[in-house]
Amino acid sequence: MIVCVCNNVSESKIQLAAEAGVRTMAELRMQLDVGTCCGKCAGCARKILREHCENQEAQSKTHGVHLLLHKIQFHNEGVHA
Ligand code: FES
Repeated sequence: MIVCVCNNVSESKIQLAAEAGVRTMAELRMQLDVGTCCGKCAGCARKILREHCENQEAQSKTHGVHLLLHKIQFHNEGVHA
């Protein structure tokens, strides 16, 4: 889906930018020129960026918990062996 018609920026480009570390609309404007012409896409672009960042954080936390559980399990197996 094209989010910014003026600059031909798709939802997937915004998601890729988020995965590359973009966290704010200012950074997104600098990277992709989103919202730098008519500005009508800014709200939608902000929403997509925020949702993607939240999903990444949730996945990161889940991964961190799994890693911690794995370390605890490994440690416990080492103690009882
Ligand atoms: S639609 Fe994005 S600046 Fe116009």
